[in-house]
Amino acid sequence: IPVDSFDLVIFGATGDLAARKVLPGLYRRFYSGQMPADARIIGAARADLDAAGFRDFAARAIRDHVGPAKQDKAQIAAFLEALDYVALDATGTQGWEELAPKLRAGVVRAFYFSVAPALFGDIAERLHQHGIATADSRIVVEKPFGRDLETAKALNATLATHFAESQIYRIDHYLGKETVQNLMAVRFANILFEPLWNSQYVDHVQITVAETVGVGGRGSYYDKSGAMRDMVQNHLMQLLCLIAMEPPYHFDPDAVRDEKLKVIRALQPVPQADIVRGQYLGTRGRGKDSVSSYLEDVENPDSRTESYIALKVHVANWRWQGTPFYLRTGKRLRARTSEIAITFKQPPHSIFDDAADTWQENVLVIRLQPNEGMNLKVMIKEPGPGGMRLVQVPLDMSFAEALGEEGTDIPDAYERLIMDVIRGNQTLFMRGDEVEAAWAWADPIIRGWEERIEKPQAYDTGSSGPDDALMLMHRDGRRWRSIH
Ligand code: BG6
Repeated sequence: IPVDSFDLVIFGATGDLAARKVLPGLYRRFYSGQMPADARIIGAARADLDAAGFRDFAARAIRDHVGPAKQDKAQIAAFLEALDYVALDATGTQGWEELAPKLRAGVVRAFYFSVAPALFGDIAERLHQHGIATADSRIVVEKPFGRDLETAKALNATLATHFAESQIYRIDHYLGKETVQNLMAVRFANILFEPLWNSQYVDHVQITVAETVGVGGRGSYYDKSGAMRDMVQNHLMQLLCLIAMEPPYHFDPDAVRDEKLKVIRALQPVPQADIVRGQYLGTRGRGKDSVSSYLEDVENPDSRTESYIALKVHVANWRWQGTPFYLRTGKRLRARTSEIAITFKQPPHSIFDDAADTWQENVLVIRLQPNEGMNLKVMIKEPGPGGMRLVQVPLDMSFAEALGEEGTDIPDAYERLIMDVIRGNQTLFMRGDEVEAAWAWADPIIRGWEERIEKPQAYDTGSSGPDDALMLMHRDGRRWRSIH
């Protein structure tokens, strides 16, 4: 179903995010027929390009970042027709007069701020000065949304000078992932799980986002950030919220965000003893496939920034009192895998004499990527005449298999989120108070290790993280699931 016609201005249109995600995503929506034929995409950046130059840039982005099934010459040519460009100075006067007349009346107007947060204020101000932003225009802003509570508040205040909260779309691309939305469907469209979804039945929850890539060319950004700011404060926090929140009364932007906010506010401070930070080692000098270490990647031999973090988190409310949430994320780990695993408690009494040595907990694993799906581990009788012996087996469901073709053609997070902006649906975007609450929780944790001037523990590239992370669970009599 096509969305309403729109004019989308992308500030920072010649940047990496536009090339990798925004332009390819818009093309895929065009290909699928969702982007109306008369919609316009206007690139705006400092680069001295004209419309033809920007179309070349977009054509390359599509060639490099769209799969072969959608590489269709005629469709690409038609999509490029919708593109225009203005060379513009975000902090000066150049280009703004030229941008204004390019926008049409009577269509949805959206501005994508794919630029450094330091420019948000300047752009917002000029959009108003030149009468480009209207009362129902939408703006899209990217993470990092601040680096602590203070900077996040300042950014919110800057945006609030010119835009109402209902016009601001703060992207956390994890919320656009199909399986992340599926978490809500699994929890709230089934009766099966919800009665068990509390500390009476759930022993603990593990949330893992493991990556195989290093920090690559993003060293200068990453070294000032680290895994806590780059991943936990936003992406893992969102996953935690969707798992822990109470049922919203309706699938409605504020109803959902109100419930997430309550979870964030219920998070307990995390003592440093419940945190393990790591930095990956390289494999230099070990053959031709050798890779650099974190310290080499960020070109800072004294860096104390973490490329891995594991922490134990408590949600202090009636539902979750006593059920720990273990979170971990890191780069250069053994495999690229993101999953949420909910481990249930023991049945209250065993009727099987021999079961003690073979009994294992029920675990519900929700795989976010790759091979999205769900897996419920249950106990059954081991086949054969040897008496009542138990064995654990998986009830495994891959969404791609279960849903056939539809399950394999899953839109990328960005394309879904951009279409939501055009539709005016804020459910999958972070509200200002949510972001601030997440920083209010993260700040003292980060300050804690900064004050201790502590170096993260080294871990091998291709491993499952630092050894101390194992201890974080071992000492509670639990184990991480293996990363594979
Ligand atoms: C980004 C982080 O927000 O998410 C990156 O800045 C990280 O460091 C990326 O690699 C992970 O996203 P995905 O979609 O590949 O899991």
